[in-house]
Amino acid sequence: MRRHAEVLGLLLLLVISAVSFIAWIIVHGVSARDQPTAVEALLARSLRHAAIPRSDRALVNPVPFNEAALEGGRMHWADHCALCHGNDGKGNTEIGRNLFPKAPDMTTSVTQNLSDGELFSIIKNGVRLTGMPAWGASSHAEDDQTWKLVHFIRHLPRTTADELDHMRSMNPTSPMKQRETKAEDDFLNGTDALSSAGESAPSTHRKEPR
Ligand code: HEC
Repeated sequence: MRRHAEVLGLLLLLVISAVSFIAWIIVHGVSARDQPTAVEALLARSLRHAAIPRSDRALVNPVPFNEAALEGGRMHWADHCALCHGNDGKGNTEIGRNLFPKAPDMTTSVTQNLSDGELFSIIKNGVRLTGMPAWGASSHAEDDQTWKLVHFIRHLPRTTADELDHMRSMNPTSPMKQRETKAEDDFLNGTDALSSAGESAPSTHRKEPR
């Protein structure tokens, strides 16, 4: 009899929670523009932490840290991750700040306190119901790439202005932007359509020899 009452109480609690959740969604809407509340953020991070097996969280980075590994991570980051996270990892990009949850500032202790294994698992498997995609295939070579990204994430709080400049040249650009850049370079080098058509380009088109 007592057991029945407990099950009934639990069911009632579940129904009340579900109805409250639906009512909350109706009142607040589903806009991604809002900032998650502190409670939502804490709950989501705790659930994510609990959902990553302890053995995965304890994994140690098998790729030795050196300049080549860091450069590998840096290139990969600029090419695939900076779109949301920014070259500096602060998440201050058009996409990053308009997602729900937002792309976090990964230079702070919030990210830096996660273990290497937890970072690896998040990159490899992504995070369900967020904008964070799963990146790693199961091949070992892909795992090495992911571990290099973990090295780069550890380095994020120390990126320099020169480094960020170098990364900008590795960020993906659209074919239209590439054509514009090429046209500008050709113009500055005096190899644009005008000069290649045999006409002499005005001297301002040419780069002075150094
Ligand atoms: C489409 C946008 C998007 C792209 C591209 C993206 N991420 Fe994310 N990432 C997110 C969002 C949103 C979160 C926050 C997820 C959460 O709150 O659980 C996140 C979270 C993370 C986290 C957890 C950090 C923390 O403190 O919670 C790591 C690590 C991470 N991303 C690494 C990467 C790497 C490495 C790449 C590139 C290979 C990448 N991300 C590409 C959107 C993106």
